[in-house]
Amino acid sequence: MKPVVKKLLGSSFVGALASPLSVDDYLSLIDSRLSLSEPRGRVTHVVRQTSDSVTLEIEPNDNWQGHRPGQHVLLGVDLDGVRHSRCFSVVSAPNEPMIEVTIKRNGDGRVSNFLVDHAERGQLVHLSPAEGDFYPHAEAPRKALLLSAGSGITPVMSVLRHWIARDEVADVVFVHYARTRDDMIYAAELEAMAQRHDGLRVETVFTADGGRRLDDATLDVLVPDLAQRPTWLCGPAGFMDAAEPLIAARSNETLHREQFAATRREAAHGEGAVRFLNSDVAASGESGSLLEVAEGAGLKPNYGCRMGICHACKCRVAEGSVRDLRTNRVRDVRDTDIQLCIHAAAGDVAVEL
Ligand SMILES: Cc1cc2nc3c(=O)[nH]c(=O)nc-3n(C[C@H](O)[C@H](O)[C@H](O)COP(=O)(O)OP(=O)(O)OC[C@H]3O[C@@H](n4cnc5c(N)ncnc54)[C@H](O)[C@@H]3O)c2cc1C
Ligand code: FES
Repeated sequence: MKPVVKKLLGSSFVGALASPLSVDDYLSLIDSRLSLSEPRGRVTHVVRQTSDSVTLEIEPNDNWQGHRPGQHVLLGVDLDGVRHSRCFSVVSAPNEPMIEVTIKRNGDGRVSNFLVDHAERGQLVHLSPAEGDFYPHAEAPRKALLLSAGSGITPVMSVLRHWIARDEVADVVFVHYARTRDDMIYAAELEAMAQRHDGLRVETVFTADGGRRLDDATLDVLVPDLAQRPTWLCGPAGFMDAAEPLIAARSNETLHREQFAATRREAAHGEGAVRFLNSDVAASGESGSLLEVAEGAGLKPNYGCRMGICHACKCRVAEGSVRDLRTNRVRDVRDTDIQLCIHAAAGDVAVEL
């Protein structure tokens, strides 16, 4: 949309004419991707690389501000009239015109299953601005280790594509763990990259086909010079837990980590009563984070990452006492936005939900 048209449509005069609907509501009738400010995209290509994943190429609208390699977006789809947004890493390199994401089925999770089973060309998706600091802050280091498992390959792949696009691959080792060759996303692309680039060595370990899980011995064989390699690491929580101490024991170089799921922590406990004002529902705060308390009470609050990254669960607390589950710090708040997934009640709390 031309900036002058956007400015005109964004004026308070046009806003008043559109009321009680929004200008975006009218624009959507012309083209669902049109919006004055919201990044949205249309799926232009769908590939099912494995039986439990789907790769989407998305053409963003002009509100999309671009991304850095390895960053993630909150991708939203409307299911039964309700918007559900979840975090997914952008796999494409920043220089590519389309956004690429690959989504792996997560248990009986709502969004991943819907997209793996039903994503199709032409579908509208809602996007957030890209976030995250997994990206390389300078040009590629002389030596680097990219280490991933399962769907954790996505942000790491973006970093590699970025270096390749800039012809910066001098000495990169990419170690990836998957259950089997058939389960591995980006297997063919990685093999082709390794053939084309002398500076790239790809090592794949298939754990259901006899490959050893990540341990001291395998790491020493696969990456003997790890001490000299800054590392980009992403994988399931158990893989991250195993990899981090092994890397720390061998290298003082920077470890960049991207986490897809919260590290297991002691069950969160709250105390006091929680009142959800807009829904006129009350519940005991004992059963966990405020997000879990709300879900336990039958409400359907927004969420994306469930670990304090994406802000999708942000909600206003009218008044009350809350505990930050990451730091255990308790504070009294009034008319304050908090992330429900990382706070528990520390006394009576009134939430505007
Ligand atoms: C920064 C970041 C980047 C990410 N990038 C990617 C990526 O590139 N590709 C990718 O595939 N994933 C990625 N993820 C992970 C992805 O966001 C999650 O897998 C997401 O939860 C999938 O959404 P969903 O709706 O399918 O699952 P959700 O509905 O959110 O469910 C998540 C899990 O909880 C379980 N669950 C749901 N409801 C209940 C319930 N009531 N009781 C018990 N269990 C329940 C589900 O079975 C599922 O295992 C990323 C995550 C983060 C934080
Ligand atoms: S769900 Fe992402 S911050 Fe709470």
